Amino acid sequence: MNSTVVDINELTIGYSKKNPLVEIPRLEISSGEIIAITGPSGVGKTTLIRTISGLVRPLKGKVSLFGKPFGVRPKRGSLGYIPQRLGLVRHASVLHNVKLGARAGNSNPYSIFPNKEIRDLCLDSIRRMGLSEKIYEPIRRLSGGQQRRVAIARTMAQSPKIILADEFLSELDEKTLEMVKTEVVEFVRKESSTLIVVEHDVSRAKSIADRMLVIDDGRVNPFISQITALEVKK
Ligand SMILES: Nc1ncnc2c1ncn2[C@@H]1O[C@H](COP(=O)(O)OP(=O)(O)OP(=O)(O)O)[C@@H](O)[C@H]1O
Ligand SMILES: [Mg+2]
Repeated sequence: MNSTVVDINELTIGYSKKNPLVEIPRLEISSGEIIAITGPSGVGKTTLIRTISGLVRPLKGKVSLFGKPFGVRPKRGSLGYIPQRLGLVRHASVLHNVKLGARAGNSNPYSIFPNKEIRDLCLDSIRRMGLSEKIYEPIRRLSGGQQRRVAIARTMAQSPKIILADEFLSELDEKTLEMVKTEVVEFVRKESSTLIVVEHDVSRAKSIADRMLVIDDGRVNPFISQITALEVKK
């Protein structure tokens, strides 16, 4: 049975009451769904996923994650966030960064997780992202697209119940993009996880999502942007 993962009611997001960014009357996202958020630059896409993640307080209305209201932390490791600026440890190796994800996903931080088990899990995520030859390479010596793939491997090793990914398909060539999309979709389906991606490229968004959330540029109502949900027919 699919359960509600994100539940939004009369939500207004932004950083100050004087300048609200987007209004969302009602939105429910179920487990197993893949959602893409599109819209022009600066409209509030990142702000929306940061609000869902619990990082930005709503200006008005309700947002709950796994049935818990804003401010209540979800279970350790259940939320995976791939930020637009990736947040990797730049001097550390690919493997080290991915291990940080695996540790975050371990529900008991004090358990002595067998080292080999963690290592195999991490190596598998790295392999899926096509980076097996870069395991010991420090992040700062990788290209932009390779760094993005490390961030994805790190999140997969965490096995989260929801992944919020901000422009995670940027900087990838056609072939790598297809490979990353296939691996991530397979991961989400297999784990019955939920994926919310911010993707400014509409055709890329359509190619991955079950549903698209299109944020308009605020021209209809010049003060605040609205969101439209569209089913994607495959
Ligand atoms: N921490 C912050 N404090 C105040 N305002 C912010 C903050 N972060 C972003 N903003 C503003 O909020 C608006 C929306 O930003 P956001 O990052 O959500 O846009 P976006 O849709 O993700 O854009 P892009 O496609 O360029 O990444 C912008 O006008 C930005 O200047
Ligand atoms: Mg953004």
